[in-house]
Formats: sequence, C-alpha cells, structure tokens
Amino acid sequence: MNNYAVWGNPIAQSKSPEIQQHFAAQQAIDLAYERKLGDEVRFEQQLADFFADGGQGCNITAPFKARAFALADLHSERCLTAEACNTLKKLPDGRLYADNTDGAGLVSDLQRLGWLQPQQNILILGAGGATKGVLLPLLQAQQQITLANRTLAKAQQLADKFQSHGSIQAVELDHIPEKRFDVIINATSLGLQGKVVEIKAEIMQKCGLAYDMQYAKGSDTPFIAWAKQCGAAQTADGIGMLIGQAAHAFELWFGVMPEVSALLKIR
Ligand code: ATR
Repeated sequence: MNNYAVWGNPIAQSKSPEIQQHFAAQQAIDLAYERKLGDEVRFEQQLADFFADGGQGCNITAPFKARAFALADLHSERCLTAEACNTLKKLPDGRLYADNTDGAGLVSDLQRLGWLQPQQNILILGAGGATKGVLLPLLQAQQQITLANRTLAKAQQLADKFQSHGSIQAVELDHIPEKRFDVIINATSLGLQGKVVEIKAEIMQKCGLAYDMQYAKGSDTPFIAWAKQCGAAQTADGIGMLIGQAAHAFELWFGVMPEVSALLKIR
C-alpha cells in the first residue's frame, strides 16, 4: 500500500485526504493517506519516524512549511524560491525531496478560469509567505506582477529577489497605479479575521478577475464579497488552487497528472 499523509496543526479541517483519495481512485492507485497532527516541538522527529515507518511522501501545511523546507535534503527550484515546502517525497536512495506546488496550483487554476494569457497585468495584495510561494510559477508564466503591501519594504524585498525571473514591481497599498489589472489576487491573511485589504474600489471594479487564495465553506470570503460589491467582472476563491496544488503533488509522487474538474464542487 502507498503510504502518504498531510501534516499540519490544526489538521482536522484538511481536505487533502479527500482530494488525494479521489485522484488515487481515478488513477487506480491504492493509497493510504492520513491526516497527521504535527507537534510544535517534535515535528522533525515525527517526520523522521513517518518516513522510517514506510512513509513515501506527504503534504505539509501550516505552520510547518518552513520547517519542512529546512529538513529536506534536495529542493525543486520553485521550492527554493518559495523558501517553503508543501510536498515531500522520499527518493529511492532515502533522501527527502522538497517541492512547493502552491504556485503551480494557482497557475493551473488561472488557466482553467481562462486568465493565463502571457503579459497579463496581475496585482497581488500582500507580500508574506503565501505570495512568496507563488511568484516563480507566475513569472515563469510571463505574468507582469505588481506587488502591493501595507509594508512596502517587504514587497520591495520580494520584487528584488524575483526581478531576474520577470516583470515585478513593488508598491504601497495606497499607491497602486490606477490602471486596469487583468487579475487581482488576494494573498493577505486578512480574510481570516473577516476583513479585506483596503484598495480603491475603482481598481477592483475595473479588473477582469478577482481571485482570493483563501476559500470559505458555503459562502463568499470577505474579499470575494467585497469584489462583487465593487463590480468585479469575475470572481474565484482558492478552492481551485487547493485542488491544483494537490494535483501537482500527486503528479510528483505518482508521475501522472490527475484530472481535477470533478473535484471543483467540493467545499
Ligand atoms: P502568509 O504566510 O499567510 O502570507 P504573513 O507572512 O503573515 O502570512 O503575511 C500576511 C500578509 O497580510 C502580509 O502581506 C501583511 O502585510 P504586512 O507585510 O504589511 O504585515 C498582510 N496583512 C496582514 N494584516 C494586514 C492589515 N491589517 N492590512 C493590510 N495588510 C495586512
């Protein structure tokens, strides 16, 4: 039996087992995939035990992505630039390979939604870990990125780090250029507090797609609700990104990209 898991804390809410089992059934692969509650102190030991006991791979979610990054032996380029790992794979020689499929999940979802033409103008709100995790795949897909953050220095740091990969500029939240953005992506953590990041309603109103990396069960996230109020032409929450990152993790483990469309209605 293939032995996989998702590690996080909290973990009860994770949809990864349901998603991965769906992919496994679709590809006729026998899969054991469990939720694992990571311990703040013992996480590294827990992972070492998991792999020593036959674990072949796992997903990593909050708050352990940086620690999983640090403990791995090898990293993909997108994982190195993200400085965070959401997928681990045990290699035949026993070494642990770290990947980050969050950005690929976002790019796949934008493509599904019809918003991945080259040279689109993309506005990203927020410059924390969630943003850093997706920048390389977005730039590789030739997106022109404006990064807006409350703390300009953090956005500037990311823009400097990623500028060799494509077009990226940093601005303060209240100095966003008033041009039309094809896509506006919320990558701030504000939705968790029921709040939205304040940008001018006209900028939101003009955009093609308002995309929230977060998602909410059975309702709009605060960002999506606000984007609709402003008159954004199209909106999408992060459920498709979640499924997309899972699909790319599945591909890393089993060498086949699963079909995601049937899953998009899960919430
Ligand atoms: P994550 O890893 O989920 O991205 P994070 O690293 O804490 O979380 O980043 C959170 C993002 O939300 C940051 O861009 C943060 O802006 P600052 O860099 O200025 O802190 C943004 N954020 C959080 N609270 C905010 C608020 N009240 N207004 C505007 N932006 C906020």
